[in-house]
Amino acid sequence: MYLIDIILGETCLSVLKISDLHKTYKTSFYKKNKKVLNGLSFSVPEGTVTGFLGGNGAGKTTAIKCILDLCIPDSGEILFFDKKKISLAVKEKIGFLPERPYFYNYLTGLEFLKFYGKLSKMSNQNIIIKSTSLLKKLDLYHYKDQLLGSYSKGMLQKIGIAQALIHDPDLLILDEPMSGLDPDGRHYISEIIKDTAKKGKSIFFSSHLLDDVEKISQNLVILKESKLLYEGQTEELLKTYQSGYELHYSLNSEKHILKLKELSLMQSKIEELIKKGAIIFEFKAVRPSLEEVFVNMALNTQQTHSKHIVNK
Ligand SMILES: Nc1ncnc2c1ncn2[C@@H]1O[C@H](COP(=O)(O)OP(=O)(O)O)[C@@H](O)[C@H]1O
Ligand SMILES: [Mg+2]
Repeated sequence: MYLIDIILGETCLSVLKISDLHKTYKTSFYKKNKKVLNGLSFSVPEGTVTGFLGGNGAGKTTAIKCILDLCIPDSGEILFFDKKKISLAVKEKIGFLPERPYFYNYLTGLEFLKFYGKLSKMSNQNIIIKSTSLLKKLDLYHYKDQLLGSYSKGMLQKIGIAQALIHDPDLLILDEPMSGLDPDGRHYISEIIKDTAKKGKSIFFSSHLLDDVEKISQNLVILKESKLLYEGQTEELLKTYQSGYELHYSLNSEKHILKLKELSLMQSKIEELIKKGAIIFEFKAVRPSLEEVFVNMALNTQQTHSKHIVNK
């Protein structure tokens, strides 16, 4: 059992909880220090996919580096699993793909995975079983004996994810895993992220590809200029921007589309249409895409949306 947060009466288990994180970079002697994280707080619920969004320079990579002990925050608290601070035991439960990973060009794909498996103290047999399964899932099995130096950007990104998953971590942290990939590559990475979550693992990943994020993330953490703009369910955020309802029906062999803002009005319209003998074949809420919501939120900086935190 991990951290238990009681949020608005719901029980929610967190694998990662960040509280009031501050980070300043010293730029140069003459210039002012640069505040990159300004009191950032959020948590990553267990067994879910949480997308970490924000424009370029919002502070995503800095936050991830602080979380993983790769840079030292000015202040704040970072807790993993059952309220543990980062330690070797905690690190063993985490898989990580950095924004700009380094790949050893003279190793083959399989040797690369064996290397990371050994670092995680896995047995040879376990390494082979896990590598084979990951390479197959990521459509890399045929290239397992090819040198990484000959891998394409997409293949490298996929082998990087396999490296992060080789030791079966409980928490997977990926910094821009889909960046620079074609739709095919993004599909494989989305699928492995969803698959990993289905096994009860937790995934926290940053991305600026909002279409992909919308498809696979149940939760979102959105940063804007070093501050939290939204933390909560993707569905809840999209609902906030819902503009009405749409009904597709046919009456007297003619197809119609009815658009209304109010659900109650739509309900009485549906009853009326059914009495007239209409056939209803689609009813849906009209929602903007995450991309549209993100742009809207970014323009409206004053608003802080959060189920958990209001007016941070
Ligand atoms: N080592 C560093 N020294 C000084 N400034 C940095 C350093 N790393 C990042 N920054 C600055 O911090 C801000 C946030 O960067 P980053 O965390 O990489 O953002 P993101 O990942 O959201 O694009 C940017 O303005 C970037 O230039
Ligand atoms: Mg980054």
